[in-house]
Amino acid sequence: MQDTGKLRLGVNIDHVATVRNARGSAYPDPLRAAKLAEEAGADGITAHLREDRRHIGDADIEALMEGLSVPLNFEMAATDEMQKIALRHVPHAVCIVPEKREERTTEGGLEVAREENRLAHFIAPLRDAGCRVSLFIAADPAQVEAAARIGAQVVELHTGAYCDLHYEGKFDERDAELERLRDMSAFAHSLGLEVHAGHGLTFETVGPIAAFPEVMELNIGHFLIAESIFIGLPAAIAEMRRLMDEARA
Ligand code: PXP
Repeated sequence: MQDTGKLRLGVNIDHVATVRNARGSAYPDPLRAAKLAEEAGADGITAHLREDRRHIGDADIEALMEGLSVPLNFEMAATDEMQKIALRHVPHAVCIVPEKREERTTEGGLEVAREENRLAHFIAPLRDAGCRVSLFIAADPAQVEAAARIGAQVVELHTGAYCDLHYEGKFDERDAELERLRDMSAFAHSLGLEVHAGHGLTFETVGPIAAFPEVMELNIGHFLIAESIFIGLPAAIAEMRRLMDEARA
């Protein structure tokens, strides 16, 4: 997914696997969902192989690598195990995320500034292999600067706090977080980083983020899979795409 000016939508299909795994069945199949997402206008597919394999499994990554026509954004923790898997498959992009076993979802951003040296060594072979390296970070200038210093090509800004504040009705705090996200999109872009954003985005919250001119890609999963229960995945993706385009215009 190169810098073309169009705002891209990456659809995260992790929670199709969550439903499958709840019953230990063979369905629903994440690859089938990914192909449906492609047909409905997804520009890429995102999948997070967690250490505990609570949703996507190793076989899903193989199937996605073989079966997708759009790029795969492989989310992973900065561990030796995940690095080996990424180097075996060489997906279009790897997005490095912090991962805690006890969390329900990715809670905070990556501590790039504190772990600069380790992460620099960690991402170098991934870049050399041809993956676009993205770092999932909070809207914090120290993290953006460190991401640029260690040679990441992309930062994905964590929109989870903004979305939580919106649904908690804390609109002043939400707007302050939105301001930080806006400033950090511009700052990251000024340092030559491609800017993505994601986590917790919904029909209600996507507009203001999609309107940031520097943001090139949004990665959205949980809400789209949840909404597909009611209106189907193609319709959920089409409506998200419409709201993104409307905000961008
Ligand atoms: N971006 C990153 C880096 C993530 O870790 C996740 C969640 O896996 C998402 C985007 C998508 O978040 P959500 O499922 O809340 O839309």
